Amino acid sequence: MDVIRRLEELQLIVVTGKGGVGKSVVTAALGRLLATRGRKVLLLEVDPRENLHQLLNTPPSGGDIVKASPGLFLQHIEPRELIDDLVRERLKVKLLVNRVLASPVHRHFTEGAPGLKETAVFGRALRLVEGHGPPALRRPDAVILDAPATGHGVSWMAAPQLVADVVRSGPIGHMAGLISAFLGDRRRVGVVVVTTAEEMPVEESRELIGALRERLDRQPEAVIANALYPPFDDDVASDDETTALWRDRRAINVAQLERLDEVWAGPRAEVPLLPIDPGPALVGAVSRTLADQLRSA
Ligand SMILES: Nc1ncnc2c1ncn2[C@@H]1O[C@H](COP(=O)(O)OP(=O)(O)OP(=O)(O)O)[C@@H](O)[C@H]1O
Ligand SMILES: [Mg+2]
Repeated sequence: MDVIRRLEELQLIVVTGKGGVGKSVVTAALGRLLATRGRKVLLLEVDPRENLHQLLNTPPSGGDIVKASPGLFLQHIEPRELIDDLVRERLKVKLLVNRVLASPVHRHFTEGAPGLKETAVFGRALRLVEGHGPPALRRPDAVILDAPATGHGVSWMAAPQLVADVVRSGPIGHMAGLISAFLGDRRRVGVVVVTTAEEMPVEESRELIGALRERLDRQPEAVIANALYPPFDDDVASDDETTALWRDRRAINVAQLERLDEVWAGPRAEVPLLPIDPGPALVGAVSRTLADQLRSA
């Protein structure tokens, strides 16, 4: 199966995984890969630390859509601003808008309501791919979401249905229902799981893959095993510390890849730990590796 073809058909790719495993790098690399194949791609970043722009060497988005290279754009969004935007859209009277936005009830509700922020983020992605984007990017072919590590990827994906179940009527309930249907459509939305081949990330990825199956009846388009130590040749003497470290880390990688195999027989890409600082060169190298690996996955 050509996974790249499959990824090219999707309107939304959710990149998820444990903190620090390389989600942002993989998001940028996938974006670059699809953009070089002619797709118009928007990378959506929710993490308040905002770092995609560093990886792609653009100015920080600060909420705007920024062009990184032909066909590749990025945007940093604050979920709560999306919710405020909704209020502005619904309530056209300025005085009323200001009152609602400033009211403790609104703040309390939007901060506390489970799943609302996630729903707003997916709602933004849906609006964009349906052609309601700003003039800077009216209709991207695909959105890639660099999902935050906080909260499982599955709870993100399940959030709109949760909101739709709780808020059954009115504009929010209706919207959540539409977004949930979008997320459930496997022809339009896919998930990419990123992990390193270490004990804790693999443990979490195994749970994630299981939860995707059980709760959402879906499987990842691909699992990316990132930052792997290079294969170690046992004939090499490993009496110095650096070589011993390489041997030991690689042995852990091999053992953990096997644990991943136990739960995942689908497409997998292996990306080496590259001696490159975060930035476009790293993104380019990871993108080329993904192109190679996913074609034959
Ligand atoms: N294959 C790789 N080779 C070398 N360095 C890498 C590789 N993948 C990621 N890195 C580096 O590892 C660090 C973590 O990567 P990244 O920021 O993409 O992880 P993340 O999963 O997005 O983290 P967070 O959960 O904190 O958002 C970064 O400094 C990044 O440059
Ligand atoms: Mg990140």
